[in-house]
Amino acid sequence: MPIDRCYCYQQTFATLKEVADETGAASVEALQEHVRFGQNCELCHPYVRRMLATGQTSFDEVIRAEDNSAEA
Ligand code: FES
Repeated sequence: MPIDRCYCYQQTFATLKEVADETGAASVEALQEHVRFGQNCELCHPYVRRMLATGQTSFDEVIRAEDNSAEA
């Protein structure tokens, strides 16, 4: 099953990407100023960072925080 959303807040990465595109938000924190997600388990944060960096909104692999700590 692809990973395509913040499960705690049921926000898809596609929706979050739309908000990022509209607002210019370029980090998890900046995006959280516009839409509610990622304030519980935070497991979605590395995926959102990858989405912001690459535009990808659905993931088949597990991404841990340390895998992309160099990204925004
Ligand atoms: S999946 Fe996003 S806060 Fe838990």
